[in-house]
Amino acid sequence: MENRLNELNGSQWLYWTNSIYETFFPPDRTHHLRKKHGAMKPPQLMAEIVSFFTKKGEMVLDPFAGVGGTLLGAELAGRRALGIELNSCWVDIYRQIITEYREDNGELIPIAEAGEKAGSLSSEMVNGDCLEVMARFEAETFAAIIADPPYGCNHGPTGFKKETNFKMNSGDRRDFGNSDDYQEFLLRMEDFGNEAYRVLLPKRYLVLLVGDRYHCGEYLPLGYMVADVLRKTGFKWKGARIWWNKATQRPLKPYAINTCFIPNITHQNILILRKE
Ligand SMILES: C[S@@+](CC[C@H](N)C(=O)[O-])C[C@H]1O[C@@H](n2cnc3c(N)ncnc32)[C@H](O)[C@@H]1O
Repeated sequence: MENRLNELNGSQWLYWTNSIYETFFPPDRTHHLRKKHGAMKPPQLMAEIVSFFTKKGEMVLDPFAGVGGTLLGAELAGRRALGIELNSCWVDIYRQIITEYREDNGELIPIAEAGEKAGSLSSEMVNGDCLEVMARFEAETFAAIIADPPYGCNHGPTGFKKETNFKMNSGDRRDFGNSDDYQEFLLRMEDFGNEAYRVLLPKRYLVLLVGDRYHCGEYLPLGYMVADVLRKTGFKWKGARIWWNKATQRPLKPYAINTCFIPNITHQNILILRKE
């Protein structure tokens, strides 16, 4: 039967349906500048995701592009991608990186020798608010939307500041990470879902990486809450993969030992939704 979604064979497809997704991607090898961003994703991981949800040459959108994990992954997978990022310093880093690397046989190789052809990475990143930028795109433009949005908010009495280990958000009010509380964050995700639904091709996928939280003494299944909000925008929630990158596992923290159970949340949810 013709494969309508990707270029994997049957066993590769089957392997990818396992809801547990363990990887061993060492901390980013592509460029030291990417490490300035506290939440970049391994391009190799993103290449695997892009490869499942698209065919070669198709166009992927990452509306929360950071320092380009999805865009670099798309390059590794032989796809094209467009990123949108609110914070201009991440856009500048991404634009510098793509002048210094080229893709070769599924690897990003530094352009070391003078005279070697530069700029073979063509996926572009635009600076702006994804809600504003996406509103300018025509309907049914992208073959997949693959992103990891900021996970929550940083202010207010119900904010996530305490649970956030790093500061990656800007001072910009339009930054989803600057939502006052998680209710506002979820409303913004719903606005995002409406735009994502419009610009995605029919029968194609929105894939989001969203971590859960432990918040005010309770487990907050933020990934599942985001998926539920996106269902309201028309997407069908097809599943989740629980991603654990063994290579970057930090030592477990001794929360409330001998008193009560508090989890060390070491996984992220990869939410898979389809426009049907
Ligand atoms: C978790 S990071 C993405 C990291 C990215 N996957 C990578 O590998 O570098 C989320 C990004 O979304 C950006 N962001 C937040 N609100 C945004 C908005 N309204 N429009 C566009 N980007 C936004 C943040 O600046 C942040 O860089």
